[in-house]
Amino acid sequence: MALERHNGTPHVSPDELQRVNKIRRDFVANVSHELKTPATSLKLLAESLEETLDEDPVQARLFAAQLKKETERLAHLITDLLDLTRLESQETIDYPTIVDVRSVLMTVLARMRRVARKKDITLQWKRFGKAAEYTVYGDETQLTSMFTNLVDNAVKYTPPGGRVEVVGGSEDSEITTRISDTGIGIPEGKIPRIFERFYRVDKARSKATGGTGLGLSIVRHIAQNHGGRVTVESTLGEGSTFTVYLPRA
Ligand SMILES: Nc1ncnc2c1ncn2[C@@H]1O[C@H](COP(=O)(O)OP(=O)(O)OP(=O)(O)O)[C@@H](O)[C@H]1O
Ligand SMILES: [Mg+2]
Repeated sequence: MALERHNGTPHVSPDELQRVNKIRRDFVANVSHELKTPATSLKLLAESLEETLDEDPVQARLFAAQLKKETERLAHLITDLLDLTRLESQETIDYPTIVDVRSVLMTVLARMRRVARKKDITLQWKRFGKAAEYTVYGDETQLTSMFTNLVDNAVKYTPPGGRVEVVGGSEDSEITTRISDTGIGIPEGKIPRIFERFYRVDKARSKATGGTGLGLSIVRHIAQNHGGRVTVESTLGEGSTFTVYLPRA
C-alpha cells in the first residue's frame, strides 16, 4: 500500500482505501464461494450415508470414504487460508534465524520422493555448493512450506514418465532455486494470474486433484517476507520453471 507522509503521520489516499476495500470484499466473496462447494458435498454425502446405512452397507462404506476425503479437502483449504492470512499480515519474518536452504530442500525432496515415484516421475536435484553458501535469514517452516508447494505443483502438473529438477545456484548476493518440470505448462495469457488467490488454470482438473489455488499465493508471500521474489517461465505442453531468489545471509 502506498503511504504518503504528512507531518510524519501515514496517510492513505481515498482511491487507495477504495481499492483495498474492494480487494477485501472480493476476498470474502471468494472464500465464501470456495467454502460453499465442500460444505454442500458434505451435507449430500452425510444424507446419502444415512439413507444407505441399513440397506446397502457396501455403498455406505463408499460414501463414508468420500465424506472423509471431502472433509480433508475442507481442512486443507482452511489451513491454507489461515496460513495466507497470517503471512499477509506479516511484512517480514518475526524471528529470523539462519536457515540452510540446502537442508530445507533435502527435507522437501525426501518428502516428495514417494509421491513422485508413485507417478513415475524422476525427481532430481543438482549443483548445490557448500552448505555454508546456501544460508538465508528466515523462518525454516515457511521456507519448507514454500518449496513444498513448488515441488508439489511440479509433480502434480507433470504427466507420468516426466522429470522434475531442482537446481541450486547463486547470483551475486542472492541464492537461486530453480524448480523445473516437463509438465503440462501454463498458457501464456494465464501466467500473470497464477499467483492470485484461488486461481487455477483448469478448475475442473484442480477439483479432482484437490487443489485450492492458494499454494502459489502462499509461495509469493513467503518469498516476499524473506526479501525475495519468485519468477516463472512456462511453455504450454513443454513444462514450467519457477525460480526463487532469496537474499543471502
Ligand atoms: N508447475 C506447474 N505446471 C503447470 N501449471 C501449474 C504449475 N504450478 C502451478 N500451475 C497452475 O497454477 C495454478 C495455481 O497453482 P496453486 O499452487 O496456487 O494452486 P493449486 O496447485 O491448484 O492448488 P493448491 O492450493 O493445492 O496448491 C494451478 O491450478 C495450475 O493451473
Ligand atoms: Mg499447488
